[in-house]
Amino acid sequence: MSMNKLPYDFIGEIIITEEQIQRRVAELGEQITRDYQNSEKLLMLGLLRGSVMFITDLMQKIHLPMTMDFMSVSSYSGSESSGFIRIDSDHKTNINGWDVILVDDIVDTGYTIQTVRKLLLDRNPHSLKVCALLDKVARHKVNIKIDYLGFEIPDYFVVGYGLDIDEKGRNLPYIASVDLEKYRKLYG
Ligand code: IMP
Ligand code: MG
Repeated sequence: MSMNKLPYDFIGEIIITEEQIQRRVAELGEQITRDYQNSEKLLMLGLLRGSVMFITDLMQKIHLPMTMDFMSVSSYSGSESSGFIRIDSDHKTNINGWDVILVDDIVDTGYTIQTVRKLLLDRNPHSLKVCALLDKVARHKVNIKIDYLGFEIPDYFVVGYGLDIDEKGRNLPYIASVDLEKYRKLYG
């Protein structure tokens, strides 16, 4: 097998390279390290499974004591977020008094982050901020403040660096657009 062949046949183009991601992740890590100098209880709380690659790279660039936890949530119906979010598995840490950074892969409509944020605020963290690798600004349906953002992207469906289309594409070290026509031909 050729070393250069893309591992999926439905990839459109690479829109953010591995180098660009790693550079930006390091910057975000520096920024978080500065902002949380005085925090004694820093928790990175990732949303499964899309944020896994991002959070594990990012935490290595944070030079502070910290801990990590995960939650898994899904939209009630269809492929488009609806605002009705179901918790499939909750975090274990009691976040009361913690400085929580909620980490997700991508903000699309914004419903997921908005809903999880409200839910976490009810659990009395000392502070709560939002970190996302990608933001599709043109698709927002609710007003979301992203405190730490990797990249703004156009309204493409993307995979890679943790993001998937029907569970495929998560292992790519870069962000690529999906050629939806090809994808439909391949997977119906
Ligand atoms: P939101 O609630 O509409 O903001 O949806 C956010 C979630 O939708 C993300 O956590 C992703 O799981 C998924 N999502 C939205 N756009 C994309 C994409 O382009 N590629 C992969 N997943 C996406
Ligand atoms: Mg997700």
